[in-house]
Amino acid sequence: MSQDVREQTGLDVASSSEYQQNSTPETATSPDPSAVKPQQSLPPKVTGRAIVITSGKGGVGKTTVTANLGTALADAGKRVVVVDADVGLRNLDVVMGLENRVRNHSLDVIEEHCTLDEALVRDRMRKSLSLLPAAQDRDKDEMPLDAMQRLVQELQARFDFVLIDCPAGIEHGFRNAIVGAQEAVIVTTPEVSAVRDADRVAGLLPGDMPVKLIVNRIRPHLVKKGTMLNIEDVLDILRLDLIGVVPDDKDVIVATNRGAPVVDIAGSHTGAAFRRIAARMLGENVPIPTLQDRTAWFSRVLSSLRFTRSERGRG
Ligand SMILES: Nc1ncnc2c1ncn2[C@@H]1O[C@H](COP(=O)(O)OP(=O)(O)OP(=O)(O)O)[C@@H](O)[C@H]1O
Ligand SMILES: [Mg+2]
Repeated sequence: MSQDVREQTGLDVASSSEYQQNSTPETATSPDPSAVKPQQSLPPKVTGRAIVITSGKGGVGKTTVTANLGTALADAGKRVVVVDADVGLRNLDVVMGLENRVRNHSLDVIEEHCTLDEALVRDRMRKSLSLLPAAQDRDKDEMPLDAMQRLVQELQARFDFVLIDCPAGIEHGFRNAIVGAQEAVIVTTPEVSAVRDADRVAGLLPGDMPVKLIVNRIRPHLVKKGTMLNIEDVLDILRLDLIGVVPDDKDVIVATNRGAPVVDIAGSHTGAAFRRIAARMLGENVPIPTLQDRTAWFSRVLSSLRFTRSERGRG
C-alpha cells in the first residue's frame, strides 16, 4: 500500500530516522552557515483521516469502539489502521484477537528498532485492516509527542482511516493520543461521572477539532424507568454532535473474550449499531434510532431469537 502511495504521489514516505529528528536535543555548537543543508526528505502526503477515540473516564468502551469501528470501516472498503496508544496497558490486540501476532510496537518504530511495516499487524480476516500495537513494558511518558505525530502522519499517508485508541485520563498518554489526530470521537456511558469526564476532555481538545459523541452501554429499559440518563440528558450536558448510540450488550463481552469484534456476530444488533456509526463517519445519512424505535426494534430482534428480555439479562 505504501508503495502505491509513493508511486501516486511521487513522495517518499518519511524514513523512520525522521521520527527522532525533533526529539534529539540541539547541540550547543552554533551551525556553520557555509555548510550545505542536508536534503530534508519531504513529509508523507497525508490523505487519511486520523481520529482519536477518547473519553477521560476509564472503562467506558474506547477500545471496543476502536476495534469495531475499524472493522466496520474496513468492511466498507476502507484501508484502516487501529493504533493502540495505551502504552503500558495495551489491549486492542487482545480485543482483536491479534495478541499472538504482535512482534513489535510503536515505540520500536520510533526508536528505530524496526520499520513501521515490521510493527504493523495485519488482521486475520481483513487485508485492509491493520493494528499498530503499543509497548506493554514501557511507560506512557517515554513516547515523544513529536515522534508520535510524525508516526500518525506516516500512517495517514498509507491508510484512509487512522483510529487512535486513547488511554484513560488526561495526562501524557492522552496528549500523545491526540497529538496526531484531526478529529475526535468521545465515548461516554450514560453515567454522571463518565459524562463529566467527557465534558472535561471535550474542553481539552483543540477548539477547531471536529468532535463526535458515542453514547455506549445504554440500557433502554433503565432509561424508560427513569433510572438511567437518556440520550437527551447526555446531549444537554455535553452539547456534542451525536454519531451513535450503542446498547449495553453481553454480545460485546462474548465477542471480546473470543478476540473477535461484535460486528462479526451474525444478527447482532450491537454490531449493526457499529456499522451504522461507520456509515455516518463516511458521510452517509443514517438516522439514529430513537429510544422508542430501539425498544421496539430490540423486542423484534429478541422475539425473533425466541429470547425474552429477562432471559437476555436485560431485565
Ligand atoms: N456496549 C457494551 N456492552 C457491554 N459491554 C461493553 C460494551 N462496551 C464495552 N463493554 C465492556 O466494557 C469493558 C471496558 O471496555 P473497553 O476496554 O472497550 O473500555 P476502555 O474505555 O477502552 O477502557 P480503558 O479506559 O481501561 O482503556 C470491557 O469488558 C468491554 O467488553
Ligand atoms: Mg482501552
